[in-house]
Amino acid sequence: MQILGIDVGGTGIKGAIIETSTGELVSERLRIVTPSPATPESIGITLKELVERHGWSGPIGIGFPAAIQHGIARTAANIDPAFIGLPVADYFSIQTGCSVQVANDADVAGLAEMRFGAGQDVSGVVLIVTIGTGLGTALFSDGQLLPNTELGHIFLDNGLEAERYASEAVRDAQQLKWKDWGDRLNHYLITMENLFWPDLIILGGGASKKLHKFAPQITTQTPVVPARLLNQAGMVGAALFAGEKLKSASGPGADIHPSHLERSDR
Ligand code: BGC
Repeated sequence: MQILGIDVGGTGIKGAIIETSTGELVSERLRIVTPSPATPESIGITLKELVERHGWSGPIGIGFPAAIQHGIARTAANIDPAFIGLPVADYFSIQTGCSVQVANDADVAGLAEMRFGAGQDVSGVVLIVTIGTGLGTALFSDGQLLPNTELGHIFLDNGLEAERYASEAVRDAQQLKWKDWGDRLNHYLITMENLFWPDLIILGGGASKKLHKFAPQITTQTPVVPARLLNQAGMVGAALFAGEKLKSASGPGADIHPSHLERSDR
């Protein structure tokens, strides 16, 4: 199945058409700068532009930087608070004129890594941490996702919220050296390790390409590896998520369509 996978990030909105059976990009990857303020209207307009530039009218999967419960945004750490409570899947379907499925950005990046990347065939507990404007997390147990973990918002033993201490945005804003930022990320990963005892930690987002620069700082017992799909994991995973939703909607129990669940939840 081919699906337009879109990753909505704090600095850029990226999209490509993905073949869901292989996770491969079958179109050019297009990127548009995230509008500021990142309101539902402005993001909707940007998504429409991305869809038009791809000449696309088929299904869309979107990885979105918020907890998403049955298509509804529940948090808004790095986006406009107007998103809270908004049925984003329905809203973006109307804006783009396409069938849209939405899930948390880190969760979908995790799905892509578990299916086609560094987590392939890994059993036990796998934690994916995406490092960008925020710190996103996806937690898997024997390949099953526990959605919307939001573990970038925990407070560390120094009293600081992890996302405000060890994200890529903080590294940029405070112009931290890789070593100093690596120590901060390590503090966070050790905290995660002590809470969840994962078998593997996968790092995604822009910094995953630079792991060699801060690897000496990482002292977890758990192996830490970069995402194999690097920062394409979000787009690929968004398409996989939408593909799964569409499959379950047309299979047995198809009368219980996800959009019906979304409506009853409003
Ligand atoms: C949000 C998460 C998101 C992460 C990465 C956090 O601020 O709360 O939902 O996954 O940023 O974008």
